[in-house]
Amino acid sequence: MRILIVGGGGREHALAWKVARSPLAEKVFCAPGNAGIAAVAQCADVKANDVEGLLALAKRERIDLTIVGPEEPLCLGLADRLEGEGLRVFGPRRKAAEIEGSKAFCRELLRRYRIPSPGFRVFSDPRVAMSFLETHHAYPVVVKASGLAGGKGVVVARSVEEGREAVSRLMEEKIYGEAGTTVVCEEFLEGEEVSVLALTDGRTIVPLEPAQDHKRLLDGDEGPNTGGMGAISPTPAVTPRMRHQIESQILVPAIHALNREGRRYRGVLYAGLMLTPSGPRVLEFNCRFGDPEAQAILLRLEDDLLPLLLRTAEGTLEEGEGLRWDPRPSVCVVAASEGYPGAVETGRRIEGLEGIEAEEGREVFHAATARKGEEVVTAGGRVLGVAALGETHARAAARAYEALGRVRFEGMRYRRDIGSRAVGAPAPR
Ligand code: AMP
Ligand code: GLY
Repeated sequence: MRILIVGGGGREHALAWKVARSPLAEKVFCAPGNAGIAAVAQCADVKANDVEGLLALAKRERIDLTIVGPEEPLCLGLADRLEGEGLRVFGPRRKAAEIEGSKAFCRELLRRYRIPSPGFRVFSDPRVAMSFLETHHAYPVVVKASGLAGGKGVVVARSVEEGREAVSRLMEEKIYGEAGTTVVCEEFLEGEEVSVLALTDGRTIVPLEPAQDHKRLLDGDEGPNTGGMGAISPTPAVTPRMRHQIESQILVPAIHALNREGRRYRGVLYAGLMLTPSGPRVLEFNCRFGDPEAQAILLRLEDDLLPLLLRTAEGTLEEGEGLRWDPRPSVCVVAASEGYPGAVETGRRIEGLEGIEAEEGREVFHAATARKGEEVVTAGGRVLGVAALGETHARAAARAYEALGRVRFEGMRYRRDIGSRAVGAPAPR
């Protein structure tokens, strides 16, 4: 089979790496890819949000399955466009991808189907949002742009003033453009945050091993929110009982709800959950694999991913697909550029990659790298992620840090505590 992977980050490197190992994969393309992906796939110079360019590429290269990494092309209707031309695609159509593309839609859907969520209000008029914030008593309040803002459109407002400022920036200054036309204000939840992903064709659900992201920039979960500074899988926070509860109270009803609304979901559904004292609550749904969760999860998957993605796309997943997982936990540590999650300098030479010895159960996934002549240089905020398996989370983390310690680029930074909260947790299963 000829495969096209859309995207160019760490998640797409993990997907390309895993898919390229499949005996069914004859040739793997990636658009646009990056310097690391180029080792396992042929990179094509087409942007991940260029729907027409991707369609032309898929036709030209006679692609049998397009696997979409990021949310933006899905929310732009890439799956609809490809399927409309008779091409197979892994990833939901636009109306189903709205579960991520519109937080207002997502919240209202979850409320209609009584899926455990924080209390919320939706506003499309900034004056109404302001007066809500002024009369509201329970702070903090979480203020979110309803549309896609690259994970940046969320503010935890601790006072009326902070709330007003967030509304003003999103709705009046429109710092994220149309994404802030509608704003959701919701109850602030506390607890452990986890990511539970499942493959689904809209009928059958195949849950993946749970994972946990480390969203804050600095050690000890301090500093600003980022796209993710590291991930682990599994997480001791999700016990087998909790896993069952998440599946039956959240994943199954969400897929059912989407079906009922005529938005059949096919692809990977990512539930971002807060484990509160009164049970798991949905923080968000994403219409794609998490990054860097995918790196941690896929490293543990022993089965061939390609037939699973194909069956998801074709709508032929089977109950109890019973995936085989490496029982060892995995830890993925992200190395970012100075200034991330804000603006960063790019084009900095990355040294030491060749010094990382190839070892079983350890992979260096490139997130934002480019080739410049003979050199590999930085090309964005999150640059690399090293994922490793180990007998324990501590052992996995040590292997990832050992490799990362060999890499250098100017301004490189990474958290030193990825997975440390899982240390000492009982071994999975
Ligand atoms: P979202 O893009 O909606 O997942 O929000 C980004 C991050 O903000 C989440 O990963 C959480 O860490 C935090 N967050 C979002 N919603 C809430 C909430 N209702 N309560 C507490 N934290 C939240
Ligand atoms: N790691 C968070 C996300 O992919 O949205």
